[in-house]
Formats: sequence, structure tokens, C-alpha cells
Amino acid sequence: MRLSATVQKLAPSATIAAAAKAKELKSKGIKVHEFTLGEPDFITPEHIREAAKSAMDAGHTHYTPSAGILELRKAICDAYQRETGVTYQPSQVVVSNGAKHSIHNVVTALCGPGDEVIIPAPYWVSYSALVELTGATPVIVETSEESGFRMSAAQFEAAITDRTKLLMLNNPCNPTGAAYTLAGLESLARVAVERDIVVLSDEIYDKLIYDGSEFKSFAAFGEDVKAKTIIVNGCSKAYAMTGWRIGWTLAPTEVTKAMDNLQSQQTSNPCSISQYAAVAALNGPQDCVAEMLVAFSQRREYVLQRLAEIPGISLATPGGAFYAFFNVSSYFGKPLGPAGKIVDNASDFCTALLEDAHVALVTGDAFGAPGYVRLSFATDINSLKAGFDALQGFLDTK
Ligand SMILES: Cc1ncc(COP(=O)(O)O)c(C=O)c1O
Repeated sequence: MRLSATVQKLAPSATIAAAAKAKELKSKGIKVHEFTLGEPDFITPEHIREAAKSAMDAGHTHYTPSAGILELRKAICDAYQRETGVTYQPSQVVVSNGAKHSIHNVVTALCGPGDEVIIPAPYWVSYSALVELTGATPVIVETSEESGFRMSAAQFEAAITDRTKLLMLNNPCNPTGAAYTLAGLESLARVAVERDIVVLSDEIYDKLIYDGSEFKSFAAFGEDVKAKTIIVNGCSKAYAMTGWRIGWTLAPTEVTKAMDNLQSQQTSNPCSISQYAAVAALNGPQDCVAEMLVAFSQRREYVLQRLAEIPGISLATPGGAFYAFFNVSSYFGKPLGPAGKIVDNASDFCTALLEDAHVALVTGDAFGAPGYVRLSFATDINSLKAGFDALQGFLDTK
């Protein structure tokens, strides 16, 4: 069967592929230290699970409006107003099958062949792939560890051409954990307004912010900025709801209508039961979010402490999300692990680390950052401890 040219070029998501490799080893009975997936290890809080059960029992098992039930779209607007002070109407919300689907809706609604989309690197694996699916061209802007992996307004401005349609900004960032300063974010917002560029602001990690960092939603920098902004968010990370597949956009009405049309043709509504669960997540008590944040903070401290003990590794301290993104290139060209393997790039480093020490990380190559690897610390401290012991054994730094 001849596949389409577009799909032939599409690689599988590197994080999902890395997790699959780890699973394959596990299925052979091998204990794997698994740090690939950006998925909280906590079970979805009880009141949210209960809301889903009640929704099923009440018969909410049918199609809903394609953009999601009004109750959920209202809950999203209320939560956003409460947390950011910015007002959106339910008619400006499209609820989708996870934030990844929301991002797909945004790029498909706005971009096509000939358009350029600015993406600061390191970037989340799916950004460039989703842009390429539309026929548009990703324009990658390199950022450095020294700048905390934050794109400056000057870099943004320099990347703009008359074909630029969109900036894809992820704050806090997967894979680096970079959280923009408010001043840095505002300077990007000013460029977007002056140069008339739409900004997809992926705020899926907005509630996972650590000491010393602050979060402000991109649309909160003024009405002129809001008019150029499409917020992407969802339940997956903050409420430990990755499997429920609920994400959304908050956007100007015109583009919201376009995305709703698109979704109504593509997938129809996201799961009705998950939507009722999401209402409970947003309208219910928020202590669960705070409790999970405390656990993530402790894990982050532990990871930073262990990384600091390993010579030759560098990183920009993550201000948000649940990833440590560190440079391992000083270990290239040296014998590693029991088999003394020599590697010269991060992908081979991850393969050798998995095969010989059973530690699963994701290569930075997948995020546009050669020499780096990503460790997800969305897992308990005992598992992190065992994984770091194995990593140190592999690097022979114990
Ligand atoms: C930056 C970023 N955006 C969006 C998503 C997608 O989230 P969801 O699971 O809701 O599709 C992820 C998931 O890893 C992410 O890291």
C-alpha cells in the first residue's frame, strides 16, 4: 500500500518510542528504571474518578457538542479567570482529546504550505511534526543552557519573516523545565503584537512551578496580546489525568469556530465521561494539585542533588514541569558501562544506557538538542534513587 508523502516523513513520537523500548525489556522480565514518559505516577484524585462514575450512571454516555459540554467550557473559563484574572467566554473554548490534539487543531486551523512557524529549541517532540503535517515549515530558534533555554525577544524578532504565521511557545517547557521570567515573556508578547504574529501558548505545566519561578499566562499581558494568543492547556499533568484525554484551547472567537469545525469533522467530541471528570477537576477542591506539587518539588530537589554529584554533567535548573534536561556530551568518546561501549551522540548514549544499565531516558536529539538527555521525575524517590545509582554505575562515577 502506498502511504501519503506526508505520513511517510512522519517519525513516531520519540518519547513514546523510548517508553516502548523500555517496555520491551520489561516484558523480558528485566527491571527497568523508567524515566521516559511525562506522566504523573499518581492515580487520578478520587473525587474526579467518582464524578466519572456518576456521569456514566446518569447516562452521560452519548455524543456531546463537538467543542465539549457547556458545563466544562464554563468551568475552564471560570478556572482561567480565577487563576489569571483574564476573561474568556465558553464560545471561545474547544475541548479536545488531550492538549496534543488541541495543538494539532491550532496548527491545522492556521497553517499551510508556505507558512513558517517559529519554535524555540529545545522543543516538545510533537511541535515540529505537527507543523510539518500541515505543509508549513518549522523555523527552529536555538536557545542555550546559559540563557536558561529561553528565547529572547531579539531572537524572536530575528526569526520573523513575511511568511511567519505562528510562534509555538511552551512555558514552563518540556523538555528543559525552563520557566520564562515575566519580563522575558512580556518582551516576546510585545514583539508578537508589533509584528502581528499569533502565539500558541502551551501552558500545560502552568501549575507545576518551583521556588523562585513565577508563572503568568501569555494572554494576561493585555487585551492586544490576548487578541494574538491561543492558550493550550488541559487536565493531563496537573490533575494526573493523562489517560482521560482532555485538553483545550482558549482563543479569539473566529479561530475557535474554525477549530470546532475541524474537530467536528475529524473526531467529534472528546469522551463524554472524561468531560464530566474534568468539570470535577476544575470546579472541585484544588488540594490535590498542591499535594502533587509538593511531591514533585521534593523529587526535583533530589534529582538536582544527584545530578550535582555527577562530574561533567550540566543543566539549566528547571523552574517548572517535571523534567531534568542535562548535557552528557562530556561522556562521549569514553568507555561506558560493563561493556565499555563508546558513543558519540545522545541517542546512542540512551540506547547503551538502556541496554547495559536498564535506565530509560529520552535523547535530546528528539527535542532538537544534541548532547542532552531528558529525565522525567514524575516518579517516586525510591525509583529515582535506584535509577541514579544505575546511571552512576554506568558512568563509573560512584
Ligand atoms: C508541552 C506539552 N504540551 C502538550 C502535551 C500533551 O498533553 P496531553 O497528554 O494532554 O495530550 C504534552 C505532553 O507530554 C506536553 O509535554
